Amino acid sequence: MAHRWTNDLTHDDVTPHATYVNRRQIMAGVAGLGLAPLAVTSAKAETLEPNDYETITSYNNFYEFGTRKEDPAKHAHRLTTTPWTVTIDGLVDRPGNYAFKDIMDQMTIEERIYRFRCVEAWSMVVPWNGFELKDLLDLAGVKTEAKYVAFETLYRPKEMVGQRYAVLDWPYVEGLRLDEAMHPLTIMATGIYGKDIPKQNGAPVRLVVPWKYGFKSIKSVVKITLTDKEPPTSWNQSGPSEYGFYSNVNPTVDHPRWSQASERTIGGGLFAKRKETLMFNGYEQEVAGLYEGMDLRKFY
Ligand code: MTE
Repeated sequence: MAHRWTNDLTHDDVTPHATYVNRRQIMAGVAGLGLAPLAVTSAKAETLEPNDYETITSYNNFYEFGTRKEDPAKHAHRLTTTPWTVTIDGLVDRPGNYAFKDIMDQMTIEERIYRFRCVEAWSMVVPWNGFELKDLLDLAGVKTEAKYVAFETLYRPKEMVGQRYAVLDWPYVEGLRLDEAMHPLTIMATGIYGKDIPKQNGAPVRLVVPWKYGFKSIKSVVKITLTDKEPPTSWNQSGPSEYGFYSNVNPTVDHPRWSQASERTIGGGLFAKRKETLMFNGYEQEVAGLYEGMDLRKFY
């Protein structure tokens, strides 16, 4: 599959503004193709130190397995992830049930180290492996009338014990505007630290949108629907005054019950300092253009 990031990573791309790394590019450099591997890895290490695997996989939000941070790691082992099928339907040329293993055969997998900011005002840095959502949508062929993408998580209360309780209106659903979905920073993650994504983090495939609060990054996706109407989203349905459709990380718009101006970094220990939260979670340079002319207090 053709790749959009060939040889144009600059030092800027690996500063906190754009914290993505193209593993292939690094490999190409290493393989002696004349591409200096840049300071990609070292610049990354200086600016974004990923959390350790243990923290990333033991402090989770995945209400299908319970509402406490430790519940997903405890209960997600019950989930069967093979076989796995992603249905892609709605306004596409090639609707159908896509076997996850066939999808994987056709995607370019790379590593992206992203900041991850939860609406509860904590944050982590995660080295994801995955592919661009755009590549998957291209596989299905998006029709010109499509304006939004709706996502759905598996509904299987036998294995997802949290679904036996009505904490949310199951299944978990999320949505993006089509241009947000097509943005090169938007990925479907299939791994963490180069290993298959653990079940508590959304195996076998979950969305990651690094400039939005973590709850937009829907886990264990089984359905993707292209539509011309703004789709419903789980947290908006459960608390419309607290969670809007856009959910962009925005330190100037408070959550009704707490400030969003700063964040606590998970894994920094008890005395870790709070950090100032950056607009669009530090990806302003890349994504601010998507929202030009919009009142982000109204579209929160
Ligand atoms: N996806 C589903 N299906 N169910 C959930 O409860 N929680 C969201 C998001 N995706 C959630 C979900 C929230 S609130 C956050 S902060 C992130 O997943 C947490 O992802 P992580 O556990 O990999 O850090």
